[in-house]
Amino acid sequence: MSTVANRITIKRLHPHFVAEVIGIDCSAPMLREDFRTIWEAFNEHQILVFRDQHFNDESQIAFSSMFNQLETMIAHPGNDWNPGHISVMTNLGKDGEFLPLDHPAMVHRARNEEWHSDSSFKPIAALASLLSARIVPPLGGNTDFASARAAYEALPVERRAALDGLVALHRMTHRDMDNDQGYKEEDKKRHIVTHPVVRTNPVNGRNALYVGAHAQEIVGMPPEEGAKLLDELTEYCTQPQFVYRHAWRDGDAVMWDNRCTLHRATTFDRTKYKRKLHRTTIAGKAPDTAFAVIPGMHAG
Ligand SMILES: [Fe+2]
Repeated sequence: MSTVANRITIKRLHPHFVAEVIGIDCSAPMLREDFRTIWEAFNEHQILVFRDQHFNDESQIAFSSMFNQLETMIAHPGNDWNPGHISVMTNLGKDGEFLPLDHPAMVHRARNEEWHSDSSFKPIAALASLLSARIVPPLGGNTDFASARAAYEALPVERRAALDGLVALHRMTHRDMDNDQGYKEEDKKRHIVTHPVVRTNPVNGRNALYVGAHAQEIVGMPPEEGAKLLDELTEYCTQPQFVYRHAWRDGDAVMWDNRCTLHRATTFDRTKYKRKLHRTTIAGKAPDTAFAVIPGMHAG
């Protein structure tokens, strides 16, 4: 292999998190040293930005699979393109034309504008998501990210102690979606799980708040009281000082750590501009300690 190791540069983009990884073609064969650099940067910076990648689905799946196996998406109105390993975030139909704003897929995707962590409603929550830009609108359609690790670390010690040990109930459906007809009943029931409110990265021991739209109640608290606390924590994590806004460029790929960040889509003129991004979701492991060392380099 002619790839030269250790040529990667990591450039921090925000005071608390987010780094651009420069000098890597994610679609090309990769040396172990390069992958290690990316893995370590991912754990440290929480969000990695790769410019000029131009993934296709095959290369995106191959790169994402280096970190762990990929989640298989559940087919629902917001994910009807390919309920396999790729989720398509778009305002376009399969014919490439604009979808009407009242189309079920559009109604569903608009809910991505709530702060959330992908797949937090699964028993083994996602490690990471990788979103690659295929069609980018000239205006708007950014993705906002919040560091729930920086937010946790900024809390007073006594507040941290009060949150330690709390367990939240996460649902796949958002709070106002209990009657959503798009989901199968068995999927809705299967995706009600619990996770600690404070989540620890096993690689570096750093804690983060694990909240967002799917976290809806606190075990052992009256539902309204738990919901209020979780809303407060999500609002706290998503204050401007903890937020990075990614303005998409053609060829961008962004990989985020779902264990310690929240994200949301932002609006754009859906009747005027086309937007299409493809997501792979990298599964977590149970227990988290399975990731205490560098993963097994599935790509060889
Ligand atoms: Fe998401």
